Amino acid sequence: MLHTALHPSVSAASEGVLPKWAVASGQRREHMERVAMLLESWAEDLGLSEEDQFRWQAVGYLHDSLRDERPEVLREIVPDDFRHLDGTLLHGPAAAELLQKDGLTDGEMLSAIAFHSIGSPGLKSLGRALYAADFLEPGRDFSREWRAQLREQMPNRLDDVLVEIIRARLNHQLERGSKISEHTVAFWNGLISS
Ligand SMILES: [Fe+2]
Ligand SMILES: [Fe+2]
Repeated sequence: MLHTALHPSVSAASEGVLPKWAVASGQRREHMERVAMLLESWAEDLGLSEEDQFRWQAVGYLHDSLRDERPEVLREIVPDDFRHLDGTLLHGPAAAELLQKDGLTDGEMLSAIAFHSIGSPGLKSLGRALYAADFLEPGRDFSREWRAQLREQMPNRLDDVLVEIIRARLNHQLERGSKISEHTVAFWNGLISS
């Protein structure tokens, strides 16, 4: 079924069809599909409209559509504000930029995709849910039991679950001596003070 009210890239993505410019391996596409399925089920559980269910599902497919592109290529695509990011974090902002160039104007979807790796206090429920689904999808190998427990609390306890996810990701980054994005810090601060 074609969803004519939606932008063509969103309509196609909600059926699992990625933009022509996507660079994503087979395994990556399987991850994207699992994220999309999780988001679709949460959107349904929340009683969202059919159109929103397609939007939620579509960001699941689209968020990593440039994950396997080379960082030097992605760095040329992203807006100046994102150029300083670590190479592994450029694919979200780059995909959002190309979707915008394709005519997508849905700001909630664009920022969900742009900030899915680093988070942002400006993320609305779609962006927050994508951040959580990317971490919680069942195909990932680490902390299976703990992540399954967090999945069971979704979608109704989204912000509490996010606090647990960000805490784990921050701890991991701190242990590795990685830089912490100011967006991630602001995301964390916004959640624990709300
Ligand atoms: Fe990603
Ligand atoms: Fe992902």
